[in-house]
Amino acid sequence: MHWNFTDILTPPEKPYGPSDGPIIAEIGFGNGEYLEHLAKTRPDCTIIGIEISQWCVTKAARRALSAGSGNIRLILGDARNFFRYAFEPNSVSEVYMNFPCPWPKRRHAERRVASPRFAALIGGRLALGGTFTLATDVEWYAEQTREAFLSNGSFSADPVERNPARDYVTKYERKWREMGRETFVTKAIKTAEIPGEETGREGDGTPETAADQVNPNIDGLDLRRELSRITGTIIRKDEYVVIFKEIFTSGSDAALISVISADEGFEQHYYIKVVHSGSQWIGKLDSIGCPYRTPGVRASLRYLSKAAGIKF
Ligand SMILES: C[S@@+](CC[C@H](N)C(=O)[O-])C[C@H]1O[C@@H](n2cnc3c(N)ncnc32)[C@H](O)[C@@H]1O
Repeated sequence: MHWNFTDILTPPEKPYGPSDGPIIAEIGFGNGEYLEHLAKTRPDCTIIGIEISQWCVTKAARRALSAGSGNIRLILGDARNFFRYAFEPNSVSEVYMNFPCPWPKRRHAERRVASPRFAALIGGRLALGGTFTLATDVEWYAEQTREAFLSNGSFSADPVERNPARDYVTKYERKWREMGRETFVTKAIKTAEIPGEETGREGDGTPETAADQVNPNIDGLDLRRELSRITGTIIRKDEYVVIFKEIFTSGSDAALISVISADEGFEQHYYIKVVHSGSQWIGKLDSIGCPYRTPGVRASLRYLSKAAGIKF
């Protein structure tokens, strides 16, 4: 079987939203068998899997493509960062997380996915009435997750269920059950909007100081010289930091600007392409680094638009 990641690995250019039909997401899908089950039983839905392990993504991509599951899309990355940028607010119907590592040691607690912050993140993307379901083999983890969602104030949750009947049992759960162990399931339902999830406080990308201003009438000027004044510029806001690292020019009518952004610690390295077209300079976020359009990334585009007159 010949296949390519581009057949299924989702480019993060545009978040999924209502135009994709009902959306179901699975976080940490492992070998992808639950994704396949969802795709078969819910053919009307778009099924999005987010997984941090590249090898798991490879296995799941192969499984989904050979099963002909055309409604599955995969995202490679940490759900704690990517969930926000993968979906439009209030657009996801159901989120599943099956048997995540509970990171039991106290010193690893911050690696746990289930936390109040995570509940707010999921809640911001879930539609009203949408659900988050966690299955785990660790009772305290199920309880802690339920409490994290309840403490958010925008969810209701029934008591944790012990060994409930499940619509599909993954390889991990099958092995666990064969050992005579128990499973615990908690389901949270979004009952109210998440206050303040979308802050919208990302600044306007205005140059920080007058010294950062470059000539906005860039047409006919030396592109490299003009853009080189941007090199080293830092945009710093509460939620993100953006650094314009380097400019690479090709002749006098094209340039590639290398940028680093960090949104609440989520770091991305990407390029912005600038070309001369007609009488103006046109900029485009280059797809090569697969950047998510985080507030920091959007601020870098706005900055170039305002400071250098580049049209996006
Ligand atoms: C124990 S496995 C369970 C796999 C599968 N859900 C199952 O039930 O068989 C946990 C999975 O979560 C993934 N994972 C861990 N942390 C993650 C994160 N922050 N974002 C996305 N995936 C994550 C791991 O790579 C692993 O594949």
